[in-house]
Amino acid sequence: MGNRVFIPTTIQIKSIFDVTNFEMKVIKRIARQSFGHNIDFSSKSDVLILYHGPELIGFMGIELWDVGVSRCDNDHPDSEYAFVYNFAISPPFRNKGFGKKMLRYMINHVKNDCNRIQLMVDNDNPDAERLYKKCGFRKHCEVGERYVYIMDW
Ligand SMILES: CC(C)(COP(=O)(O)OP(=O)(O)OC[C@H]1O[C@@H](n2cnc3c(N)ncnc32)[C@H](O)[C@@H]1OP(=O)(O)O)[C@@H](O)C(=O)NCCC(=O)NCCS
Repeated sequence: MGNRVFIPTTIQIKSIFDVTNFEMKVIKRIARQSFGHNIDFSSKSDVLILYHGPELIGFMGIELWDVGVSRCDNDHPDSEYAFVYNFAISPPFRNKGFGKKMLRYMINHVKNDCNRIQLMVDNDNPDAERLYKKCGFRKHCEVGERYVYIMDW
């Protein structure tokens, strides 16, 4: 019987200015593997970073007060919600519950500062849609080839 080593998972929230160069390098590598292109974070963003032991394995951008490209036709032009974007888990660590863990952490983090979270998902990404629905999001509208999902309270 082999001993199973427990590897702690930790989540950090940083302003984009506090993300180290090394962390950003790892984030950009995982983003290329996940989205097939480079990503950027806006200067107003916080970044949620998930560590599995010493290894950075997941990230997510959060922007309070500006839903940017996820604004739907029927949304008030001044709507002030949290916008979540650039969310990925490193491929070898998927389907183990880490994505759900990050979403739950993010919801707790923003719930006193706003009353709605918006995010976008490509219309050919049913796995991500299922995860969002499981975490309490619902489809709000379509913007081009993407769906806007929301959670409000
Ligand atoms: C979308 C994404 C972030 C989800 O992260 P994840 O860590 O794989 O998600 P989770 O493991 O929390 O949940 C995925 C599934 O695994 C299941 N799961 C949870 N714990 C599990 C475990 N211990 N063992 C096996 N499966 C588990 C979940 O129930 C869920 O099942 P479902 O397919 O029935 O919904 C990840 O797939 C990803 O990075 N994709 C590429 C980038 C992307 O599409 N980002 C989202 C853009 S909108």
